Amino acid sequence: MPKIGIGVLVSGGGSNFQALAEAARKGEIPGGEVRLVVSNRPGAGALVRAKALEVEALVFEPKDFASRAAYYERIGDEFKKRSVRLVCLAGFLMKVEPNFIRMFPGRILNIHPALLPRYGGKGMYGRFVHEAVIKSGDAESGCTVHVVDEEFDHGPILRQARVPVLPGDTPESLAARVLVEEHRIYPTAVKPMIEKLLATTNEETVP
Ligand code: GAR
Repeated sequence: MPKIGIGVLVSGGGSNFQALAEAARKGEIPGGEVRLVVSNRPGAGALVRAKALEVEALVFEPKDFASRAAYYERIGDEFKKRSVRLVCLAGFLMKVEPNFIRMFPGRILNIHPALLPRYGGKGMYGRFVHEAVIKSGDAESGCTVHVVDEEFDHGPILRQARVPVLPGDTPESLAARVLVEEHRIYPTAVKPMIEKLLATTNEETVP
C-alpha cells in the first residue's frame, strides 16, 4: 500500500526529526514515511542527521526569496512534488505564513517545549522557554503537540506530556528532560493523523 508522505521543517539540532523518522521506520507510525526535511539554516545539525538516516534534505534560506509567501510557496511545492500530505515542524523557529497553512489545511503540526498555552508566542523558543519556566518557579513543565494555525504556538492541542521542574535545574537540564518526552509524544500525535489520511486516501481511490 502506498505510504503517506511526511515533510519536516527544522532549524536546529533535529532530534525531533530523527525521532519521527525512526518511529516511522520502526512501524510506530503505520503507513507514514518521512520523505523530505527542509531547513531554513544551512548549518542545522538536522542536516547531518538526515544524511545519516538517508532522508532527503533541502536548505532554503528566506533571504534568497522575494517574500515570505514566495519562500513558503517553494517549500510547499517541494513537499507536494514528493506527495507530502502532513508537515511536522520540529524545532522550526520561523512563523509559517498563511499561504503555507492553506496548502496543508489542518495538516501542519508543531511541537513546543512547554505546556501551552503557557510559555508560547514570539521569542519563546528553545532555551528561552526553559529559562522562563525556571524563573517563574513552576513545579512542572512539559511539551505540547498542536495543529498549527496563523498565530504563533497556537491551534488545537493534540498531546501534552508533563515533567517535574527539579531543584537546581538549569535550562539545559530541564530541556533534556522535556526533550525525552518530546521524542515520545510527537510520533504518537502523528500516528492518528496518518491513519486518518490513509482512510480518506483509500476512500478517494475506491471507484
Ligand atoms: C525542541 O525542544 C522543540 O520543542 C523546540 O526546539 C527544540 C528543537 O530541538 N521548538 C520550539 O521551541 C518551537 N517554538 P531539535 O532540533 O533537537 O528537535
